[in-house]
Amino acid sequence: MTDVAHDLVIVANRLPVDRVIESDGTTTWRRSPGGLVSAIDPVMRAHDGVWIGWPGGTDQDLQPFEDDGLQLVPLSMTPEEIEEHYEGFSNGTLWPLYHDLVAKPEFHREWWDTYVKVNRRFAEKAAELAAKGATVWVHDYQLQLVPQFLRELRPDLRIGFYLHIPFPPGELFQQLPWRRQILEGLLGADLVGFQLPGAAQNFVRLVRQRVGHKTHRDLVYLPDGRTVRAAPFPISIDAAGFEDLARSDAVTKRAEAIREALGNPRKIFLGIDRLDYTKGIYARLRAFGELLRDGHLGVDDAVFVQVAVPSRERVEQYRLLRDEIDRLVGRLNGDLGRIGRPAISYLHTSYPREEMASLYRAADIMVVTPYRDGMNLVAKEYVACRIEDDGALVLSEFAGAADELRQAWLVNPYDMNGMKAALLEAYQAEPRELTKRMKAMRKQISQHDVKAWADSFMTELADDAHHSHSKTVRPATRS
Ligand code: G6P
Repeated sequence: MTDVAHDLVIVANRLPVDRVIESDGTTTWRRSPGGLVSAIDPVMRAHDGVWIGWPGGTDQDLQPFEDDGLQLVPLSMTPEEIEEHYEGFSNGTLWPLYHDLVAKPEFHREWWDTYVKVNRRFAEKAAELAAKGATVWVHDYQLQLVPQFLRELRPDLRIGFYLHIPFPPGELFQQLPWRRQILEGLLGADLVGFQLPGAAQNFVRLVRQRVGHKTHRDLVYLPDGRTVRAAPFPISIDAAGFEDLARSDAVTKRAEAIREALGNPRKIFLGIDRLDYTKGIYARLRAFGELLRDGHLGVDDAVFVQVAVPSRERVEQYRLLRDEIDRLVGRLNGDLGRIGRPAISYLHTSYPREEMASLYRAADIMVVTPYRDGMNLVAKEYVACRIEDDGALVLSEFAGAADELRQAWLVNPYDMNGMKAALLEAYQAEPRELTKRMKAMRKQISQHDVKAWADSFMTELADDAHHSHSKTVRPATRS
């Protein structure tokens, strides 16, 4: 497959499947965690592209292969690269820096060096696979230098970059010792996409201040005559796909079975997150625990199901978080539960889409309370699965999704009393109120699904190439 040139190349740190070695030594493939993979999957199917990414693990020299109709090109990483590029610079430096310093970012020069090295390898692989004039779409914070490296190798390509996580304000970003290199890396793209308008504005302002390029609104003018556009493209989900799944007999039955297994409580609260310190899992469980302790809720009336998907388990801050959540759940169940009636039903595992849809259908109140989140697709998936226009969404103001899902119970996750009040209100809301809110949110999601997201990015990227060529005309007409 690699000797064929491709018109669309997707470059992401992860492949959509992860190589896992079972206890009996055999290897299998499992779907990778996180929102990025679920968003790009349908784009790949629609455009017949090739996807370059790390398959997880340390296997070297894996060959390109096809999985479930997708053409995948594994790019291996050595144990040192995993430690310094993936766990180190990507998840120990950039992830906390881009998420409001929810944890303290660490700055290490060796991590940076390896980040550069790995980004260069991704760029070289993309340069090798792309046909003349092809479109290459690079994804997320692990690969911010790829656009620049790729442009140096292949100036003929149309390069798009999309950041799935927040882009921080200058006050935070400027802590980064390599701030200028990151900005220049991104400027290798023709179009740089963000979740929200504020993130795109942060980027343009930083480029003006730190790199010194001329900018006008969403455009950056480079000395070589190229123009780069920075714009918001709020990501979404396969809304119709989730809805169909939610309507299926299997899911309907499974949702009933879940309620039954939980002892048919009056209401089920649900949280589903990667086990990440940005997600506010601890705070939400505490809020729920206090509602029980204060007598506003009882364990016969309500249970909280929390699914925590294992994530980045070798990174220190993630290990600490896991211990904290384990302790909190143990304490809440010990203090507040009764035999057969735990306060929290806690699951440290990942589930296939069908089980997720069943949980969404079973849950009366979905609780999504990140301290900072680029978008949060779980919130959107819940809405898509509420085929009877009922159920409540409690959503953090600091999730990108809050910009669109205005009818949720919006909360500040740092405000414990505010969060308790919202959980209780959502619990007590009248069916009519729920329907009114859910209908509006469902309309939003069905009109703005992942296909619309991908189409608008791809169309804009195609336009942008045209725009760069007519640069002498356009700036004037746009001002
Ligand atoms: C978020 C990021 C993705 C990442 C995913 C899972 O959605 O935006 O880039 O792939 O989390 O995290 P992981 O570290 O397992 O790739």
